[in-house]
Order: sequence, then C-alpha cells, then structure tokens
Amino acid sequence: MMENMVKFIVANFVLILLVSTSRGQSIFDVTKEGAKIGADINQALTRSWNKACASTIPSKVFIPKGIFLLSPVTFEGPCKAAIEVAVQGTLKALTDSKVTKDGSWITFQRINTSHCQVVELLMAKEPLLGVLVAKNFCKQLPINIRFDFITHGFVQNIRSLNSKQFHINVLGCNNLTFQRFYIIAPADSHNTDGIHIGRSSGINIIDSFIKTGDDCVSIGDGSKNISITNVRCGPGHGISIGSLGKFEKEEPVFGVTVKNCTLTNTDNGVRIKTWPASTVNSASMIHFEDINMINVSNPILIDQVYCPWNQCNTKVPSRVKLSNISFKKIRGTSATPIAMKLACSSGTPCEGVEVADIQLKYIGKGPAKSECSNIRPKSSGVMDPPACRG
Ligand SMILES: *[C@@H]1O[C@H](CO)[C@@H](O)[C@H](O)[C@H]1NC(C)=O
Ligand SMILES: *[C@@H]1O[C@H](CO)[C@@H](O)[C@H](O)[C@H]1NC(C)=O
Ligand SMILES: *[C@@H]1O[C@H](CO)[C@@H](O)[C@H](O)[C@H]1NC(C)=O
Ligand SMILES: *[C@@H]1O[C@H](CO)[C@@H](O)[C@H](O)[C@H]1NC(C)=O
Ligand SMILES: *[C@@H]1O[C@H](CO)[C@@H](O)[C@H](O)[C@H]1NC(C)=O
Ligand SMILES: *[C@@H]1O[C@H](CO)[C@@H](O)[C@H](O)[C@H]1NC(C)=O
Repeated sequence: MMENMVKFIVANFVLILLVSTSRGQSIFDVTKEGAKIGADINQALTRSWNKACASTIPSKVFIPKGIFLLSPVTFEGPCKAAIEVAVQGTLKALTDSKVTKDGSWITFQRINTSHCQVVELLMAKEPLLGVLVAKNFCKQLPINIRFDFITHGFVQNIRSLNSKQFHINVLGCNNLTFQRFYIIAPADSHNTDGIHIGRSSGINIIDSFIKTGDDCVSIGDGSKNISITNVRCGPGHGISIGSLGKFEKEEPVFGVTVKNCTLTNTDNGVRIKTWPASTVNSASMIHFEDINMINVSNPILIDQVYCPWNQCNTKVPSRVKLSNISFKKIRGTSATPIAMKLACSSGTPCEGVEVADIQLKYIGKGPAKSECSNIRPKSSGVMDPPACRG
C-alpha cells in the first residue's frame, strides 16, 4: 500500500534528456520558438523540428534545462540533412492527454540518413486516476516512443519509466542503433514490452537494462539482421522471437544474434514462439550465445504451440519453419526443473538446431532436465542438463 502511494505521488510522465555539444550544426533552440518552462512546448518543438528538418546542413533541435510539458507529438521526415534531438531539460506528458494517431506519446518517423541522438528519457507513473482511466480505455494506452521508417539512426541514453504499453516500438527501420536504454515498468504490468522490433533490418540494441512486465525485447515478423548485446533483462518475459504465425502475410525473421545478456527472474530466458494452426512463415539464423540466467523459469525455450488464452487450435501444427538456430554458452539457474524445452512443430519440424555448453541448474531439489518434441538437436561441449531426444 505504502509503496503504491509513493508511486502515485511521482505523478505524470517525465522525460529527462541530456545533451552533448557538437560543431558544424545549425541549432534550433525551442525557447527561441516560444517554449516556456511549465507550459506545453508541442508547437514550439514542432516548429523547431520543421526548421531543423528543412536545414540543408546538419542541425540540432535543442531543449534546454527546465521542466516543460509535452503533448503527444510526431517528428516526421524526410529531412534534408542529419538531425540530432538533444534535450537537457525534463519533459512531462500531460496527464489527460490523447495519444498520437499511431498510438504513441512521441513518434519519430520517415527520417532517412538521420542522426537522432535523443538522450536520457525518464517517464514516471501517472496519478491513480490516470491509471484507472487507462485501464478502462486500454486500446488507447500509448506506446512511449515509436520509431517508424527511420534509416540510419543512433539513439542513446533513453530512460523510459512505466510506459502504459510497449516502451519502444520499431517499425520499418533500417540501420538503427539503440545504446544505453534504461527501461522500467512494474513486473505485473501488461503488454509493456521493452523494445519491440518489426519489419526492420540492421537493428542493434546494446548496453541496456530492461525491467518490465512483458518481453524485454520482442522481435516480430520481418526482422532481419538484429543484434542484441550486453543487455540485462528482468523481471519480465525475457527475450523473444515472435510470436510468429498469427497473422496473414507475415514476413520471415532472418538473422538474430543475442550475445552476452543476463536475464534475472524472468518467466523465459531466450525464446522463439510461434502459434499452432498458424500462417506460413519462417525464422532462421538465430543465435543465442553467452547468456546468463538467474532464476529464470524457462531459460531455453522453443515454443511452437504458443497459445495464450486458448485462442487457437493446438491440435493443428504451426506452419512456421524454424531452422539454423543455436544456443551456446548458456549458464546459470532455472526456476523450474525443465531448463531447456524445444517444442517444435510436428508439421514442419525444426532443422539445424544446435545446443552447446549449457550449464543450467534447477534452483529447487533435483536435477534440471530438458524436453524436446519434433527435434533432435545437435549438441556439443558440456551439456547440463543433457540434450533431449524428441
Ligand atoms: C534513404 O536515402 C537514400 C539516399 O537518398 C536512398 O537511396 C534510400 O533509398 C533511402 N531509403 C529509404 C528507406 O527511404
Ligand atoms: C548506419 O547508421 C549510422 C548512423 O548511426 C551511420 O554512421 C552508418 O554509416 C550507417 N551504416 C550504413 C551501412 O549505412
Ligand atoms: C547487419 O547490420 C550491421 C549493423 O547494423 C551492418 O553493419 C551489416 O552490414 C548488416 N549485415 C547485413 C547482411 O545486412
Ligand atoms: C557483457 O555485458 C556486461 C553488462 O551486462 C558488460 O559489463 C560486459 O562488459 C560485457 N562483456 C563483454 C565481453 O562485452
Ligand atoms: C525465483 O523465481 C520464482 C518464480 O518466478 C520466484 O517465485 C522466486 O521468488 C524467485 N527467487 C528469487 C530468489 O528471486
Ligand atoms: C541453414 O544452414 C545450412 C548449412 O549451413 C545452409 O545450407 C542453409 O541454407 C541454411 N538455411 C537457412 C534457411 O538459413
């Protein structure tokens, strides 16, 4: 109770961004466009963005120190040259605010050859009333930040607290790097994925920390060449590829590397999930390596009968083909006895699955085990638990 009350006093969304100076840029300071401390700077910020976007030399949108309000905003390209968004102050969302037309608080979209350096973003919980309203109108819960159709970008030092939906959503982007993201939402919050990627290529997530109620990072259909390195997750549902196969016209997932990550107290560790009775799709060249598990309920999981809330016919096999998948150097503790579960589709069994150097201990009594269906993984190195034969 006490804890809840404290949370409610930390009202509103808050965004804190820091700036690094650089040369050879035109600078568009929002206060020159009429932004005032304590007031909604949406219009001043939009004007600054539009000017920066029209600049033929690299530019910077600058928000100085101070607490400003910000109603939902979309930063749209294409822009003429590289743009940096640098924020030193604090941005607070308006409590009774609507969301952008694509359901976010802040959207960056259609920016090519950009250098968006958005630094330090911190969002705190809404007051009690806001939470109740949000629950009644759950379809309108905003994604904190959307990156849509961005080509060549670099985003650093975002802090996102208590998003009401996905914290960060990435769609249609190419060559976009996220470094030092610090994402927090309560363990029991629904659908608050840390970073969701879909239909994008060349996305790198590095040096980040994600504690949330849903997936730490989720990788949806059409994701290619995705790399997740030095990320700490937990609580939450772990790092997931999928779910895949629920919708028509899904695109393949190809090339995902997850390396040197630590998952703590998560429901799953590294997981690939596809729906039974699914549409046709595939996921291949997926590699998990150097992963530490601390009290993770399902550390290694391929789940081709993923069917939450019994929304599907589990008797019909998934038609998502999984191939060339490896789990290597995965160590630590499992909160359940089944530390490794590879449940492949009976209709299109997994191919080219490799497990190596697995050392997972069950934290309870007895040994950790592995379980497989429709797959006989190739194994090498230390195997504890021993590889299964499905
Ligand atoms: C980005 O711009 C480059 C050069 O102008 C162009 O070749 C490329 O097709 C653009 N990419 C997207 C996704 O718009
Ligand atoms: C990827 O984007 C970065 C900007 O963050 C840029 O410096 C780099 O040249 C881009 N890479 C390619 C292959 O275009
Ligand atoms: C994958 O992404 C990395 C970094 O974003 C890039 O350097 C590399 O060229 C990409 N590779 C392919 C095959 O697209
Ligand atoms: C692995 O990730 C941790 C942070 O989780 C970092 O401190 C460490 O330097 C990384 N190791 C390598 C080899 O990159
Ligand atoms: C381990 O995970 C289980 C299940 O999520 C949880 O109930 C338990 O409190 C965790 N133990 C520790 C020591 O965190
Ligand atoms: C899987 O790996 C094998 C052997 O390296 C290769 O021949 C095959 O093309 C790969 N398949 C996919 C879908 O990546």
